[in-house]
Amino acid sequence: MSRIVVATSKPEATRHWLSVMQAALPEFEIVGWEPGEPATGARYAIVWAPPKDFFDQEKNLEALFNLGAGVDALIALPNLPDIPLFRLQDAGMAAQMTEYVVHHLASLSRGFSTYAQQQRQSHWEQLSPPNYANWPVGVMGLGKLGSHVAQELAKLGYPVAGWARSHRQVDGVEIFHGAAQFEKFLSRSRVLINLLPLTDDTRGIINHELLASLMPDSVIINIARGGHVVDDDLLKALNSGRIQLAVLDVFNQEPLPAEHPYWSHPKVRVTPHVAAVTLDDQAAVQISRGIRSLAQGQMPGGLVRRDIGY
Ligand code: NAP
Ligand code: GLV
Repeated sequence: MSRIVVATSKPEATRHWLSVMQAALPEFEIVGWEPGEPATGARYAIVWAPPKDFFDQEKNLEALFNLGAGVDALIALPNLPDIPLFRLQDAGMAAQMTEYVVHHLASLSRGFSTYAQQQRQSHWEQLSPPNYANWPVGVMGLGKLGSHVAQELAKLGYPVAGWARSHRQVDGVEIFHGAAQFEKFLSRSRVLINLLPLTDDTRGIINHELLASLMPDSVIINIARGGHVVDDDLLKALNSGRIQLAVLDVFNQEPLPAEHPYWSHPKVRVTPHVAAVTLDDQAAVQISRGIRSLAQGQMPGGLVRRDIGY
């Protein structure tokens, strides 16, 4: 019987995923990996931020399954073996991302943050009807998550544009692609949503230059990775009034250090990397399907291209 090993950064998370995956793959033997224990000899690994020694020890692995969408941290490991790596594709995260964005965007565009202030003063006043044209949205990254978010916002009536590496079609969304069209995409965007993978090409992309290219009074919603943001540039743009609000779910250092200025900044909303979390049932379905396909000699979806970093 082929063996599967689960390895994460926390023993309780490893135990949790071991039991979730064992229920989904009863025909396989699934074991958890603990630092200091002997190699398991497993053929497949299910991982999220595995301990440093994991790949030095597990030498029989033929494929890796990532318990998340982003693979930047895994790819950065110097001892990552050169075997196929599969990531989660959507798996319930696209809907969560949309919900997260609509929550924050509607608080501005529908005036819900103003109504919250009014309630504190027992003040009854109806604001003007929403004018979606005032909130042109730009979505960076049109993959599994970005294309869904862009499409759903367009359905609500926001003018939505998206930017990706290559050209594609997304219903109701104006498409820009490549470096040559980036400036044009930014200059028509007032709400910038980041759903790019973190790669050599995208690290630090939310910097002074980008922030200066957006429409005045812009909003940044970063739900991809903290490494996309140059924090000093964003703080300067918030303090100067160039950017009215930054909604940040991900950070260069996580957990966000207690002394970080984002925590108390009046124009920053912080959430602790929860914009879209991995859901047990959907992750288990996708990974178990992938492992069964591989075991039968077929190639599952979600293969990561190491050469481009996502
Ligand atoms: P994906 O399907 O791989 O899509 C990535 C998109 O980014 C693609 O459209 C791709 O363009 C585009 N892209 C990549 N490099 C680019 C570049 N240099 N210039 C322009 N466009 C570029 O990824 P996904 O599943 O949507 O996930 C996106 C990211 O969300 C993940 O990598 C992860 O970091 C983040 N995430 C965050 C959370 C959270 O809770 N905060 C949860 C899940 C995921 P092409 O289509 O042309 O290839
Ligand atoms: C979470 O951040 C993920 O990449 O799935």
